[in-house]
Order: sequence, then C-alpha cells, then structure tokens
Amino acid sequence: KILILDFGSQVTQLIARRVREAHVFCEVHPNDVSDEFIRSFGAKAIILSGSHASTYEEHDLRAPQAVWDSGVPVLGICYGMFTMTVQLGGQVEASTHREFGYAEVRAHGHTELLKGIEDFATPDGHGMLKVWMSHGDKVTAMPPGFKLMASTPSCPIAGMANEEKHYYAVQFHPEVTHTVQGAALLTRFVRDIAGCKGDWIMGDYVNEAVARIREQVGDEEVILGLSGGVDSSVAAALIHRAIGDQLTCVFVDHGLLRLNEGQMVMDMFVGQLHAKVIHVDASEQFLGHLKGVSDPEQKRKIIGREFVEVFKAEAGKLKGAGAKGAKWLAQGTIYPDVIESGGAKTKKAVTIKSHHNVGGLPEQLGLKLLEPLRELFKDEVRELGLALGLPEAMVYRHPFPGPGLGVRILGEVKKEYATLLQRADAIFIEELRNTIDPATGKTWYQLTSQAFTVFLPVKSVGVMGDGRTYDYVVALRAVQTSDFMTADWAELPYALLKKVSGRIINEVRGINRVTYDVSSKPPATIEWE
Ligand code: XMP
Repeated sequence: KILILDFGSQVTQLIARRVREAHVFCEVHPNDVSDEFIRSFGAKAIILSGSHASTYEEHDLRAPQAVWDSGVPVLGICYGMFTMTVQLGGQVEASTHREFGYAEVRAHGHTELLKGIEDFATPDGHGMLKVWMSHGDKVTAMPPGFKLMASTPSCPIAGMANEEKHYYAVQFHPEVTHTVQGAALLTRFVRDIAGCKGDWIMGDYVNEAVARIREQVGDEEVILGLSGGVDSSVAAALIHRAIGDQLTCVFVDHGLLRLNEGQMVMDMFVGQLHAKVIHVDASEQFLGHLKGVSDPEQKRKIIGREFVEVFKAEAGKLKGAGAKGAKWLAQGTIYPDVIESGGAKTKKAVTIKSHHNVGGLPEQLGLKLLEPLRELFKDEVRELGLALGLPEAMVYRHPFPGPGLGVRILGEVKKEYATLLQRADAIFIEELRNTIDPATGKTWYQLTSQAFTVFLPVKSVGVMGDGRTYDYVVALRAVQTSDFMTADWAELPYALLKKVSGRIINEVRGINRVTYDVSSKPPATIEWE
C-alpha cells in the first residue's frame, strides 16, 4: 500500500483517487504523524502532497524523518517538492504570489518516472507535458544527488529526481485531470517504481469498511435515511453488512417518487437484504403542504422542510425506542459532497446538498454521525454497491433530485399530475433501457446521463379514434454531461422518440401530446424548475 502524507492541499484526496484508480490501495494521513507511525505503516512508497498555504514561507511543515530513513520511493508534489528539497539539502525561494494554471513542461532526460510519458514532442524532439502548475515559490537548488527532470521557462526546476533513491518531485499537480498524463505518471510511480501489483479491488474495501464500521459503532444502534438513490442505498447495504439489525432505515416516501419506486426499495432492502426498513408514506402530508404553491423554490423549500420534519419524528421515536435507542445517524455523504461543502461552492451546489444530506440533523437529534462513503467518489460508490450485491440497475441509476417529481410537475403539484407523470416517465425510461445503440452496443439509458419526463399543466387538442381530445402535454428530457454543470441534449434516434411518444399517448389516458426538449445547459437547466 501507499502512504499519502497530507500537507493540507485542497486536492490531496485526488491523489488518493488516482492511486486507487491504478488499483493500488492507499491511505491519506496528516503530514505530522510520528516516525513510529511511518515505520509501522509498511508503505511501499510515500507521496507528499501539496499544501493550501499560499507561499512556502508561511509555515514550516515537514515530513517526518522516518520518511527519508524508510528506504522506500518518495514522490513530492508541489509543496511536497519544496519540503523534499529543504529536508534533503536543496534550496527553495519563497515568493509572495502564486498562480495556478495551465503550463507546458519540458521533460529532461530519461527518468524512470517520465520515460515514454508525453503529450507531444517539440520539433527538436523533446517530450512535452500539458500540466496544471503552481507558479510562485521555486526550487532554486536541487539537493545533492538529484538531476533535473522537468522545466518551464518561468520555473526552471519543475521536476527533479534522485533515481538511486527513487525520490521524485514535481512542481505541477499530476492528480488533477488538467494534467493530461497525470494519471499515467502516478500509475508509473505506484506500480512500476513502488512495485505495487495493482490488485486492489472493491471487494477488499468491503471487508475493511465493514471492520471499521463495527469498530466505530460497537453494539450501538444506527438510523439511516434511505431515499432509493445510489448513495444512501450503498451506505445502507454496507452498514447492514457490517451490523445487521443494529441498523434501521427510514424511507420517507413523499409521494413524488418514480413509478413503483417505493415498492422497489422495499423489495430490495427488506425482501432481499433483510434489512429493517420503516416505510413512511407521507404523501398526503407533502401534497397537503404543496397545495396552491407554484413557485419552484418555494416548492423545494416545503419539500425539504417536510422531509426533515418527517424524518426527525421517526428518528425521534427510534432514539427513544428500546432499551438502548439509536445513537448514530448514518448518511450517504460521498467525497464530492465533502469537497463541495469545504471548497468553492456554487449556490446551486448548496441547494442540492441541503436536500441530500439532511443538514444539521445529527446535532438536532443528538446523534453521532456515521458516513462510511466519505472517502469515495461516485464511481467507487457504484463499484462498492455491486460488490455488496446491489443490482446494476440500482447502482447505475441516473440521478434523481431530492424534491423528486415536485420539480418535474411545472407549477402546482397535484396527485393527478403525479400519477400521469409517473406512468409516462416509466415508459420513457423503459424504452431507453431497452434500446441498444448499434454503434456502441450500449443502451440509450447508459448513453445518457439523465433522462426523465416533465409534466406541463397545459392542455392541447388532439384526435383519438373519432373523438376530439383535450389533454395534457409532457416533455421528454435526455441529456449528456460529465459534470452536470453543462449539458447537451441527447440526440436520441427518431425511431426511439417515435416509439416512446406512441406508447405514452396510447397507454396514458390524459396525455395526448409528447414533445422533446432540445435545449442545452446553459442557458437552460437540466430540470425544468
Ligand atoms: P439543473 O436543473 O440545475 O440540475 O441543471 C443539475 C443537477 O442537479 C439536480 N437537481 C437537484 N438535485 N435537489 C437535488 O437533490 C434539487 O433541488 C435539485 N435541482 C436540480 C438535477 O436533477 C441535475 O442532476
């Protein structure tokens, strides 16, 4: 395994992410762990992270001496390069400003780390890398035994290596995706240089995570809010694997879920996993509070607030129940949520989070927080879900907003509308899942990032048989996106659209017109509200 020492960079977790993508296990620990810790950890290599401090002189964080005594390969990244330089006898010049940006780095000579790794070559045959670089502080003299590995015009020592000791350092950030060859470089380090096999898989993680949860929770009881989404489902399955009946899931059904979703969640968790789930049917209550409300943000607030109320009431009962009562609240917080709440956040991100993670609840309920997915990225959560035996259809589900159909029924929410929408949407999703694109061999459900149906509370005229109809309209929405910040509408095949439209109009009495949304984000958003 690899040890990553964290000097406080915002992106340290990304180093871990990239290392694990190379199927090598790693752990992140603070830079000031003891020498004894380093010795007993048994790392095959150590990576020193960057730091949040804006300049090198602002603090004097160092790696424990045991790092240099351990004899294992060391990779220093950004601040990690500075501390390596200083600790091994080189020089760093501090600067008062620092820029973070795109750069082209020239690779010098053939080091084990960069051999054969390049984005393009200069006309005179030098390998070049496109990287994300921190300018500012600079290494001005390499420690003894080091040779130059990379440079840019503004940063002459942008990378250095002591190949005898297998010490490497780069000024740029290989862990961010803007550094095109970053993953290749980190893989080279952990696999070829450190000699890790690359056989770490989620199955092993399950055992570790299970052991950790058992140790954390002991014989105490845990409550978890199950939504049917990927994160809370995987968290529930994992915790259930660890502590069985000490876990109680509370599934708040606000009546604005997809068709049969409530039943599917219960079948999966109670029927198959034999977990304890309290299914709270609060649809009347939610619809009651939404009556007469048509403003999207107000609808969101009401749904969010009611959700917390209902959950609190149930959790309160569980807390008091039995001899012991629940002591823990589990949440499916995943690593991007952690970054979002800590780092730069958009207004939208905050709104989204407040729905997902029942914010502030643990304190209000006096419960301890259990977040077993905190270190994992979405695709790791999905892999973990599969390793825990959850079906692919659940693990690879498109995202579904917390307020559910509440924001997919434009304007005032009514039960009648929700029922029509659920049925139309189920047809659309079923056809997407059943239609394979011959070019890729994938289904259109897989080829789209999010697809759903929107209910428009307007009526239009149609003709069916000999009769005139005057019924509602739905819009189909399907987008492709990598980050949900921008999105393109999906170019679904006409034949697929035709089939979906035909089925909806024939099978869902009350809808006589289907449209397809051809707006991209921006300027439109993915959801209609
Ligand atoms: P927009 O519509 O802003 O959506 O382009 C981007 C992503 O966020 C989801 N979304 C929400 N998720 N609560 C949620 O949990 C919300 O209020 C909410 N609004 C939008 C949307 O489904 C898409 O994936």
